[in-house]
Amino acid sequence: MYKIAVIPGDGTGPEVVREGLKVLEASGKKFNFKYETKTFDFGGERYLKTGKTLEDKDIEELRKYSAIFLGAIGHPEVKPGILETGVLLKLRFSLDQYINLRPVKLYNSVYCPLKDKKPEDIDFVVVRENSEGLYKGMGEFQKKDTPDEVAIQISYNTRKGVERCLRYAFEYTRKRDKRKKLTLCGKTNVLTYAWDLWERTFKQVAKEYPDITTDYAHVDATTMWFVKNPEWFDVIVTDNMFGDIITDLGAMIQGGMGIAAGGNINPQGVSMFEPIGGSAPKYTGQNVINPLAAICAAGMMLEALGELKAAKAIEEAVIKIVGTKLKSLAAGKMGHSTSEIGDLVVSNLQAEVIK
Ligand code: IPM
Ligand code: MN
Repeated sequence: MYKIAVIPGDGTGPEVVREGLKVLEASGKKFNFKYETKTFDFGGERYLKTGKTLEDKDIEELRKYSAIFLGAIGHPEVKPGILETGVLLKLRFSLDQYINLRPVKLYNSVYCPLKDKKPEDIDFVVVRENSEGLYKGMGEFQKKDTPDEVAIQISYNTRKGVERCLRYAFEYTRKRDKRKKLTLCGKTNVLTYAWDLWERTFKQVAKEYPDITTDYAHVDATTMWFVKNPEWFDVIVTDNMFGDIITDLGAMIQGGMGIAAGGNINPQGVSMFEPIGGSAPKYTGQNVINPLAAICAAGMMLEALGELKAAKAIEEAVIKIVGTKLKSLAAGKMGHSTSEIGDLVVSNLQAEVIK
């Protein structure tokens, strides 16, 4: 019996989470796994009412769950930064979800903005470090509000933090068993402390994985290759900030935010799965947002829980719909409503023959 904590969150979060749960229910029936859910109201509305983001007791409560399914955090009436650090980053950090796993997979070339790229050309995974780097929030102002002001923002990288991320990436590349290639994405030519540590550790850990081919790309070049030769990549490992940036580009080449899912992983603890597109406030309540990213996130959650057949079946159902049924993957242009797409995934899932 899995215990799933559900955080629908803000904006279109609740609408896409509803569809994710619909698909979860159908796959539970089909693949015989049982789960219970509890919904938590963390997010912008609650903050506006109570002034509270996330308290330590909330974190303690969430530790009891098998996984967390998150919609989106971000509210137009709350000053940027409060909910991001107070809810989303607090969850990631307190639960030590030190990996942010973001698959970039094109399901149908029709939705790819790159010319002549096919599904087999865009199929890689970004392993983003999720607990350190610039996201650590270290720094200070000096001489604030004077003409001589200095703002310092520190990228904090520990040997242990870097090494556990790299080990996860090597293991993941091996388990994925595709091209068995791991690319370190960094900036060794300028950020000479942080990326020296990353590169040294990368080379050292690589010795334990002779079956994995390794290479290195600067982050700026990486964005160029995403557009020019995405087929070069299998698994990419990078730090928190670069991972944030390159995965938005990754989402665009796989068809947009409507389809991009991610997992915040603590391999020894509670992991959290989310569509990476954010709360899209302007589409709230209109039943036009694309729920496929949330549905894919639910699939990733099942994979992490060990329900591999169910995870695979969800992906197959999504591939089917993306291949035949949708006019576009963008909100309002799909030719179907949010809930219709959830229903389509469910009916395809139910019709699938399990091998
Ligand atoms: C993401 C988001 C978050 C991040 C924001 C909302 C804090 O952009 O999940 O990529 O920067 O990590
Ligand atoms: Mn981001």
